[in-house]
Amino acid sequence: MKKSIGLIGSAAIAAIVAASAVADPDDNNLVIEGQSLVSETTAPEGSAFEIIYSGWRFRSPETQVLETDDFENPGMVAVEYGYELWETAAGSSGKSCADCHGAIEESMSGLRAGLPKWDEAAGKPLSLEHLINRSIKEHQGADAWKWESAEMLAMTALIGLQSRGMPLDVQTDGPMADWYERGKELYYARVGQLDMACANCHEDNWGNMIRADHLSQGQINGFPTYRLKWQGLGSIHRRFKGCMKQIRATPYKPGGDEFTALELYVASRGEGLSVETPAVRQ
Ligand code: HEC
Ligand code: HEC
Repeated sequence: MKKSIGLIGSAAIAAIVAASAVADPDDNNLVIEGQSLVSETTAPEGSAFEIIYSGWRFRSPETQVLETDDFENPGMVAVEYGYELWETAAGSSGKSCADCHGAIEESMSGLRAGLPKWDEAAGKPLSLEHLINRSIKEHQGADAWKWESAEMLAMTALIGLQSRGMPLDVQTDGPMADWYERGKELYYARVGQLDMACANCHEDNWGNMIRADHLSQGQINGFPTYRLKWQGLGSIHRRFKGCMKQIRATPYKPGGDEFTALELYVASRGEGLSVETPAVRQ
């Protein structure tokens, strides 16, 4: 039984990945507005890779250049909107984010690089969207934003930008250990009609072409990311959802425990890469 499932999986992979068309990441250096970012580094301990690469290194030169200049980066429109929201009073407190948190450049610096992070009160790790919504509900006294709303994407992009250039570094021990293991299990679990795991594409076949796409290691250092295909920003969990749909699996719920665990595990696989938020992808 197990064996035949395995065979279906390998056949599906062979059918969609053109194994002959190996194309390594390019040698371009990622410099954004004069700041050099780490898009390639020695893999963290215990990694399946020797070297880890940002997804930026697998994109076409036309897509790459959009991320290097803030005036060209289409994700910056949302960042502007984020600044507006940051200054707008709302809810029963009658306060804006800025009224309580002050200058975003200081109060939110470094946050994105260490997410998701353990939260004692919640008794679980929280992603950026969870932290924002808790603050909106409990401190600002306003209604939470939907996970994939324009407001949430603008704010996660703006907050993420305050960590641009900083290396991903997440806690995976202590109370996070169980969540890390859970995320790892999900990463290697074959699911869907195509019976494939994240690892079958992003670990076994990165560098290869999958249909017209140059397959990367599936890193999340650039999120929320502006995708030309989406004509807008999308969250980490939206990307996970899209990848699960590609293999005809039923995606988990954005914001739910499965995707939060998966986000933690995938973040740990990218430790050392620079935060690129908001990145630009195809
Ligand atoms: C059938 C192959 C396939 C599977 C299985 C798959 N992906 Fe992907 N994924 C892709 C393709 C194709 C892209 C777009 C090209 C790229 O960036 O690699 C992509 C992109 C991504 C990206 C965006 C990378 C960036 O730099 O913006 C992330 C993150 C990601 N995948 C995570 C996952 C996770 C987590 C899973 C398992 C739930 C998964 N993928 C399963 C094919 C796959
Ligand atoms: C009335 C004051 C108040 C307002 C208004 C407010 N916050 Fe907060 N926020 C707090 C306090 C206090 C904390 C720390 C305690 C906690 O994490 O719950 C916090 C925590 C956070 C955190 C987690 C920071 C970290 O380092 O873990 C984020 C992110 C955040 N707020 C974002 C926002 C955003 C975005 C807005 C506006 C939409 C906002 N907050 C509005 C008081 C406020």
